[in-house]
Amino acid sequence: MGFKSLLASLLLVPAATAQLTGHVGPTTALSAKQATICSVLDYGGAIGSADIGPAISSAFTNCVLKHSGSTLYVPAGNYQMQTWVTLSGGTKWAFRLDGLITRAATTGGNMIAIQNANDFEFYSANSAGGIQGLGYQARNAGPRLIRMVTSTNWSVHDLILVDSPEFHLVIQAGSNGEVYNMAIRGGNLGGSDGVDVWGTNHWIHDVEVTNRDECVTVKSPANNILVERIWCNQSGGSAIGSLSDGTAIEDIVYRNVYTNGGNQAFMIKSNLGSGYVRNVLFQNFISRGVAYGLNINQFWSSQTPGTGAGVQLSNITFQNWDGNVVDGVARPPIQLICADGAPCFDITLDNVNMWSQTNKAVVKCESAFGSGVSCIRSGSSHTSYAIVTQSATQPAGYTTPTTMAGDLTAGFATNAAIPTPTIPTSFFPGLAQISPLAKNK
Ligand SMILES: *[C@@H]1O[C@H](CO)[C@@H](O)[C@H](O)[C@H]1NC(C)=O
Ligand SMILES: *[C@@H]1O[C@H](CO)[C@@H](O)[C@H](O)[C@H]1NC(C)=O
Ligand SMILES: *[C@@H]1O[C@H](CO)[C@@H](O)[C@H](O)[C@H]1NC(C)=O
Repeated sequence: MGFKSLLASLLLVPAATAQLTGHVGPTTALSAKQATICSVLDYGGAIGSADIGPAISSAFTNCVLKHSGSTLYVPAGNYQMQTWVTLSGGTKWAFRLDGLITRAATTGGNMIAIQNANDFEFYSANSAGGIQGLGYQARNAGPRLIRMVTSTNWSVHDLILVDSPEFHLVIQAGSNGEVYNMAIRGGNLGGSDGVDVWGTNHWIHDVEVTNRDECVTVKSPANNILVERIWCNQSGGSAIGSLSDGTAIEDIVYRNVYTNGGNQAFMIKSNLGSGYVRNVLFQNFISRGVAYGLNINQFWSSQTPGTGAGVQLSNITFQNWDGNVVDGVARPPIQLICADGAPCFDITLDNVNMWSQTNKAVVKCESAFGSGVSCIRSGSSHTSYAIVTQSATQPAGYTTPTTMAGDLTAGFATNAAIPTPTIPTSFFPGLAQISPLAKNK
């Protein structure tokens, strides 16, 4: 590309490339994928199958891959699954999962992995399909439920994922993905991640997660990720991390995130390491009864230290937050503990009104530069400083955070089956979902 056209293309990039950079989701409509219906019932499966895995594989290999514009169909009904599937390389296809598949083996890996798909839609038309993982029987000793691997131009929506032995939905790299209208319910303990996402240009919205680990969490490398209308219902809370060496995360927006209970309103977590997280906006957060609130911790002891001096955080804005933590002296509503080896800068708190249910709180800062909280330092020279703890007063803009009908007061039992929920139609107080449920279309 010549200098002039390079310049022209740079000028075409909007100044605020903070979120999506182009189209997300499948390139063609569902109607373009109806030419051939590849039903598992025609490929060795039956409602009530003890192992629907081989029929899914066969329908994919012998039908989807042979007919462009096709739909792999699992009709409504109950199925068990013992053989995990990796469906690789399909183009212009859909996976319509109207049935509920229950895990019936403890093999590791992923129950359903979609790999290198292009122009792909994974959904249930009745908004009732999904996977029951019975994780309480195989805690951290079984599969993840769904993994989208290096795919492009795709969506995953209207699926219910329950009690995975490990994580529920992993978006591994790829680009132009959209995830929406999902209900995810995991056990009330660690290792039960809701959505983990990395890659380029993904939109995650209208997702409800109940668990005790990551709600919707961005991992490295990632750029141009928009996460919005997220309901963390007694969840671990959302995060960016854990981050270590070679981190590369930029142009991320989280907005309209509601967190009821759980570990944090939001956390950026690392322990030494290298690379960067920059150009991030966290807008319109409501949280109630979380352990930690706005939490940057770059000395996070649960993570093995990286070899670098610290992941560089910069240009990170927290705007319009309302919420409370359980005990603001034990665990601050705001703490910005940045890496001494890479002090964070341009950290802006704008209208952040985080308080404590005990009516007493402290704030903590270390090696943090920016504005909007008493303990942060200003100025353009960013020299590390030791942790500062200051007592805080109730922010003038604080109001007791709103609740949502259907908030949990306790997580689900870890030694019994977790009931299969329905998918909500609102995921943030006062906001309807962006796209209607498939069953209401
Ligand atoms: C994905 O879709 C975009 C248009 O939205 C298109 O430019 C791109 O080529 C598609 N990717 C592939 C691998 O076909
Ligand atoms: C800072 O990040 C915001 C997104 O939150 C972005 O719009 C802006 O361009 C960034 N500023 C700089 C100087 O990169
Ligand atoms: C959130 O928790 C409430 C209370 O148990 C429950 O009714 C609701 O279904 C949960 N949301 C989901 C989708 O799991």
